[in-house]
Amino acid sequence: MTQFKTLDDLPTDLSGKVVLVRVDLNLPMEGGSATDVTRVESAKPTILELADKGAKVLLLAHYGRPKGQRHSTMSTSWVQGDVEEVIGREIMFIPEVMGLVVEQSIGILGNGDIGLLDNVRFWPGEETNDADFAAGMAAHGDIYVNDAFSAAHRAHASTEGLAHLLPSYAGRAMEAELKALDVALGKPETPVAAVVGGAKVSSKLDVLHNLVGKVQHLIIGGGMANTFLAARGVDVGKSLCEHDLADTANAIMDKADQAGCTIHLPYDVMVAKEFAANPVSLRVCNVHEVAADEMILDIGPQAVEALADVLKNCRTLVWNGPLGAFETAPFDEATVALAKTAAALTQDGSLVSVAGGGDTVAALAHAGVKDDFTFVSTAGGAFLEWMEGKVLPGVAALQS
Ligand code: 3PG
Repeated sequence: MTQFKTLDDLPTDLSGKVVLVRVDLNLPMEGGSATDVTRVESAKPTILELADKGAKVLLLAHYGRPKGQRHSTMSTSWVQGDVEEVIGREIMFIPEVMGLVVEQSIGILGNGDIGLLDNVRFWPGEETNDADFAAGMAAHGDIYVNDAFSAAHRAHASTEGLAHLLPSYAGRAMEAELKALDVALGKPETPVAAVVGGAKVSSKLDVLHNLVGKVQHLIIGGGMANTFLAARGVDVGKSLCEHDLADTANAIMDKADQAGCTIHLPYDVMVAKEFAANPVSLRVCNVHEVAADEMILDIGPQAVEALADVLKNCRTLVWNGPLGAFETAPFDEATVALAKTAAALTQDGSLVSVAGGGDTVAALAHAGVKDDFTFVSTAGGAFLEWMEGKVLPGVAALQS
């Protein structure tokens, strides 16, 4: 892994220094408060460490996709209360990202105080990574810290541009994330297994193409598995399936064969005639016995047992996406069972397990094992792009 500077490289006394800290405060909200503050919790150590070293900490974040215009519903002031609660300190809201108001606010902040700038995406220069816009923000800071891995796939002014204008450092959450991801796919202990689930092959084509060249076992679940089964000539009834991607699925399977990667598809499945909780038509059958009016909604218990054996022989696991329609019982069973196996192997010390993506985190939390994996990333798009083998601009800028 190319090196990057961390907070360890900063002086112990930052009194009077203004540190611009890019965090991800794009929190899911309901009724005016956040339903999940994990992203704030992960940025907390960085924020407190800088504040406790005497810095004036200015939090820089986006919230939603306002597309270069002010929208009162997308001000970062909406998350101020949640951030204060998690951080445990008062935070000054600053309704700009540069200019006189920011300058005056910095004058009011004492050493060790924290300010929250408004949604950086209110300005068009953010998403176009405009040099003048980045310079305008940089003018207020002495140091730039990026602690938002989940926004690092965006080459925006606050995630990429600023890193070239100020002395730049990875925050603690970014540092942990990059180290964990490097252990999982950069230089992993082999054999490596990847679980890739979710509805559509089309949304994860690049992930699959990248992984077959890197892992020894590729476990495909969710609606994606149906597309692969159909490509192999299995009749999947009225299951969710991208029939037009049969050639693509076959090409991925050929590539896997050549690379020595075993693709695991289920040989038994849970099916039903309607998608509902505990439907009367529910049954488990061999994949070759799905009726024309049935749909596959989860992989079956025999397949789960076989996959558990695969994981028992692996040293590293990367997981993105559920194996079935896990939000609706009993189609959560396979995901829960395999997640528990992975968690137990991790706790025994025989497996390094890294998982990421919104659905995946929810599935692991549902299985009660979120804290038993080696590392769980809260990043969505950034985690997928990392699984695609792409260089993330926000990370590359810290390494240059
Ligand atoms: C996220 O919520 O995944 C990140 O904050 C990135 O948001 P974006 O997809 O709007 O860039």
